[in-house]
Amino acid sequence: MGQLHFVAIGGTLRAFSSTERALRKALALAETRGARTTLLSGDAINFPLYSPENAVRSELASAYVETLRSADAVILGSPGYHGAISGFVKNALDYVEDMNRDDRCYFDGLPVGCIATAAGWQAAVATLQQLRVITHALRGWPTPLGIAINTIGETGDPVEQNPIPAHLGMMVDQLFQFYNRSTL
Ligand SMILES: Cc1cc2nc3c(=O)[nH]c(=O)nc-3n(C[C@H](O)[C@H](O)[C@H](O)COP(=O)(O)O)c2cc1C
Repeated sequence: MGQLHFVAIGGTLRAFSSTERALRKALALAETRGARTTLLSGDAINFPLYSPENAVRSELASAYVETLRSADAVILGSPGYHGAISGFVKNALDYVEDMNRDDRCYFDGLPVGCIATAAGWQAAVATLQQLRVITHALRGWPTPLGIAINTIGETGDPVEQNPIPAHLGMMVDQLFQFYNRSTL
């Protein structure tokens, strides 16, 4: 098995986005375990609203889809906005529709880790569930462990403090395990 390519999608356009920082942390953990990684967040996914009727794609959107075509594992990260995945992240995921005629349709056969952040548990958990449902719709395999982060930490930044880094490491391990098991 060659070097795996881990691709993370999501975050917000906000400076110091906690969702983006969680995605970066997950990718860094994947790198320490031997993967190469690509982060698709912020300006890299700031696309026009997806429109299936319009075949014209920006260079950015075309590059995004090309990157996804080379992914061996995907990590999704969204904030909870009004109890749900943000429009910004959903729009980026709508562009995965451009892979509908690929030999590997959408995320078919790929392990997918999901991370949700919110200023409370209810939206964090609801958003995590939605990311997992979307993963199923895109034919991906959500890892058993998903990550819900309540960004209102009582003692500092939850993204930087255990248990979140430890849980991110467990989720990244599960993404790798998908390949260990499938090659048995
Ligand atoms: C438009 C909007 C709607 C939000 N709705 C909720 C919500 O329903 N429940 C919640 O707990 N937090 C909500 N939040 C807070 C965000 O989920 C939270 O701050 C998140 O961590 C922001 O992610 P970021 O740091 O990556 O930008 C909302 C924030 C915004 C801007």
